[in-house]
Amino acid sequence: MRQTTLYAHTKFQIAPVDPRIFGGFLEHIGRAVYEGVFDPDCRHADEDGFRTDVMDAMKHQSMTVMRYPGGNFASGYHWMDGVGPQKLRPTVRELAWQSIEPNAFGTDEFIRLCRKMDWQPMLTVNLGTGSPEEARNWVEYCNCPAGTNFADIRVGNGEEMPYDVGLWCLGNEMDGHWQLGHVPADQYAIRAQQAAKMMKDADRRIELVACGSCSVDMFDTYMEWDRQVLDYLGDYADYISLHRYVGNPKDDTPDYLAVTNSIDRQIEEMDAVCRFVQARRRSDKRTYLCFDEWNVWYKNRETDGEGKFAPHLVEEVYNLEDALVVSGFLNSFVRHADSVRIANIAQIVNVIAPLITRGDDLLVQSIYHPFTMYAGRQEGTSLRTFVDGAGYMSESYGRVNYIDAAMIQNDRKLHVFVTNRSTDTDVPLRIVLEDRPIESLVSAEILTGGQDPKAANSFEQPDLVGKQPYREIKVAGGRSQCFLPPLSFAAMTFELEKW
Ligand code: AHR
Repeated sequence: MRQTTLYAHTKFQIAPVDPRIFGGFLEHIGRAVYEGVFDPDCRHADEDGFRTDVMDAMKHQSMTVMRYPGGNFASGYHWMDGVGPQKLRPTVRELAWQSIEPNAFGTDEFIRLCRKMDWQPMLTVNLGTGSPEEARNWVEYCNCPAGTNFADIRVGNGEEMPYDVGLWCLGNEMDGHWQLGHVPADQYAIRAQQAAKMMKDADRRIELVACGSCSVDMFDTYMEWDRQVLDYLGDYADYISLHRYVGNPKDDTPDYLAVTNSIDRQIEEMDAVCRFVQARRRSDKRTYLCFDEWNVWYKNRETDGEGKFAPHLVEEVYNLEDALVVSGFLNSFVRHADSVRIANIAQIVNVIAPLITRGDDLLVQSIYHPFTMYAGRQEGTSLRTFVDGAGYMSESYGRVNYIDAAMIQNDRKLHVFVTNRSTDTDVPLRIVLEDRPIESLVSAEILTGGQDPKAANSFEQPDLVGKQPYREIKVAGGRSQCFLPPLSFAAMTFELEKW
């Protein structure tokens, strides 16, 4: 195959990368909370009942922000059920996933977990069955100093200091007919505006995420929903949410790996509607994008908890091609650092997740690795990257290069992320930073799984897909050169020559 060259220039910058694009999402669904992060009976449980094996594995992913408690769950959740003495917390029939919810894990436990993991908390308020006032009271509980009712309830529960939760989502997927309390855009906008006002009155510093379209192709309200919501919410909308779950139902790997084109496009379309509304309102305030649910999800559709506690729901098994698509999502967020400020992979453990628990055991799935490869390479400025090389025409998403790429420059460090979509061929790859010679390679890892796109880890064979140090990279004459194996993702860090 002919050589692919990545061209960049340190002056051609997109924007500083917001570290919050490396976020996660923890929902009360299936075994995500119970048997996932929280499992007091597990051999690995710490003094708070959190699973240390899950926490230790997650530390390598360096997630920055964590969304909670849903998802669809949030639209039927009353946060007061999940605070206070454990014995007094009600066990309820949970409405989104038809499960039993004992409320043993709630706001205080979540914040404790965030502190242990160094995650910024991000809470989703209930705008389905809940009221704007209930949302406002939650802000008071979390963020206000002692001296008023809900803040004092927190203090009574043992937490004198406010939690300072900075990010709040105004409901979840309210355009979806499955959502508890689903309404048309104009009605959601009214609800969200009322909640936003009261929430910001409780704490001026918080930032709010409005519910955007939850799908690009399911409803004909795509974009129109977003326009109406943004128009009505005005400057209350600091961010608007995007959701995206992709898959390979046609079992066509090259086509599936080209889905990155449509992720780029979804981001650009959502940014366009934000800019359109901003211009029409003649406002100085730009609404940024919060991609607060994204992942591969198409194989397992078990969503009915059948009245059970911690049922096995949507425990998707991930393979090599899925991991490459996950790397493509992350590359796309970096390429759109000017508009995407927050992103959360859905989810973190057991439910459509990089990690799976079974009793006391833990399995690391293929999609775990792209995050660990971005870890330590999150900081810096995204550089415009021109990919000059061979490509192919995909059936669903148009033409793509074999190589999907993103670059982050941090002073004298250059981080390069490359996914090879070719199913059978090494791609000769050259990296050229036009105005700054590359001096040396600092570190590099590569994710592979042989040439089998369907290779997947299991408890029996846990290491089929994994990352390893990538040593076959040469640096000469200020440029870098390697042969990227088929179906792989590499993350590299170079030292640039001193100016
Ligand atoms: O992540 C699982 C579910 O997918 C979320 O609860 C919902 O928001 C989305 O439809």
